[in-house]
Order: sequence, then C-alpha cells, then structure tokens
Amino acid sequence: MSRRKLVYEGKAKILYEGPDRGTYIQYFKDDATAFNNQKKAIIDGKGVLNNRISEFLFSQLNEMGIETHLIKRVNMREQLIKAVEIIPLEFVVRNIAAGTFSKRLGIPEGTQLKRPIIEYYFKNDELGDPLVTEEHIDINNWATIDELSLATETSLRINDFLIGLFRAVGIKLVDFKLEFGRIWKDDEKRVILADEISPDTCRLWDVKDERKLDKDRFRRDLGGLMEAYQEVAKRLGIMPEGSNIKEIKSGISKNFKIKK
Ligand code: TMP
Repeated sequence: MSRRKLVYEGKAKILYEGPDRGTYIQYFKDDATAFNNQKKAIIDGKGVLNNRISEFLFSQLNEMGIETHLIKRVNMREQLIKAVEIIPLEFVVRNIAAGTFSKRLGIPEGTQLKRPIIEYYFKNDELGDPLVTEEHIDINNWATIDELSLATETSLRINDFLIGLFRAVGIKLVDFKLEFGRIWKDDEKRVILADEISPDTCRLWDVKDERKLDKDRFRRDLGGLMEAYQEVAKRLGIMPEGSNIKEIKSGISKNFKIKK
C-alpha cells in the first residue's frame, strides 16, 4: 500500500493511483482546515467518519441514477473511485442563510431562503476560492455552458434528495458544496459527481435546537467535532452502536462493517 503512486494531495484527502486504469484510491485524512488553510488541526478519526458518511451518501445517489465517482469503500479510510478530471469549481447549494452568504449580504444566519440557490466558486487557493459568475466561468473555459447547466441541475436534484434524507433523521440541510469531474469512455464525455459529501462539506443543524453537527464546530471553535460527526453517522444508521471510538480514531477496526 505504501508504494502507491501519489496523484494529488489536498487539504483533507489524498488521491493515489488505483489498481486498474481509470481508477484512483481516495484517502480521507484527519486534517481539518478552515478559511483557506489559515486554521489547521488534526482531529483523530475525522477521516474515518467522513469516508463512511460520504460512501453512504454517494451510494444512495448512485442508486437513484445520479452517477458519482464512487466504486466502493475499501477500508476505514479509503475508497476506490473512478478517475475524473475535476472541473475547477465548487458548486455551493444553499437552503438557509449562513456562513459567507450571511456575511456578504447581511442576511441573518438561519433565514429560510424562498428557494434553493446555487453559487459558483473558482477552486484556487491562491485567490481564496473567489465567488464567480457564469460569464467568468465561460470566458475562462473552466467549464462549458453545457457542463455548467448539467452540474447545476444535478446539484439541485441532489439537494432535493439530501434535504429529505437528512430531514428524516432530524437534521436540517442548511447548505453544502459539490464538485464535479469529467470522465471519458471511448469518445463520449460524462460529467459526474466527485470529491465527497460529509459534515466537512455541509452545514447540518439539528431540527430541534439548531445545534451544529458539521465543520462549523471547528471553524467557530465550538468543540465537540467528533461527537457531532458521530451523531450524524449514528442518525443515518451507519455507525453501529458499540462501534469503538478508539478503533475509529486509530482507523483500524475489525468490527467496522464494510458494505459490499
Ligand atoms: P460558506 O458559507 O463558507 O461559503 O460555505 C458554504 C458551504 O460550502 C458550507 O456547507 C461549507 C462548504 N464549503 C466547503 O465544503 N469547502 C470550502 O472550501 C468552502 C469555502 C465551503
């Protein structure tokens, strides 16, 4: 495993070459970063929970006909995925005002938006991932108009599905971020969902008391990040009761159920 060829290392994940052509291994690290890497910490076990939660959500999406890069989870920290060419955009879907939306526009956090909205950010650490318009995307060739409308439509479908899925377990989906990638088969190109969906990339609030169950616990120094992520996994029914926290933190477990 240690001799695998590194493809890319990001802030929270590493990509290695996979066993077959056209595949990668996506490894979930315990690193937490915020505000474009200005704030950093290692949170033992975070990668294990994000791997499991993201696997669960991507599998559900695959089953409902939204193609994702996930092939299967292979162990507590790794997934086998389809290799894609990432579109250099973050697609942020918002249902309730929060975060930079509230700050930028002066709309109080928690305000229900009259409909879901989507924002595009250019993935570029040096520029701090700026908010961009469709025209910026077009003239810079970050995505074609067709790719953009397909990814936007898919993001809104994913939102509809995830709102219901989380609502059923007492969680409000406030906002989240998606990434898409291009994949070619013969001469045909498809745009599919890539990256991850986890409490690192979503805002998730408890329906009853609006307790934050996501990375804002780290961004805002609220503490209890692992407990919050575990709560999300438990409610989704994917963290068996009695799952040993020490095992999760070390990333090695015999009991951790691997879905075939
Ligand atoms: P924001 O309010 O900070 O713009 O974040 C909107 C959503 O996007 C929130 O759920 C967190 C997620 N997000 C990421 O996953 N990665 C990022 O780099 C940023 C800025 C936000």
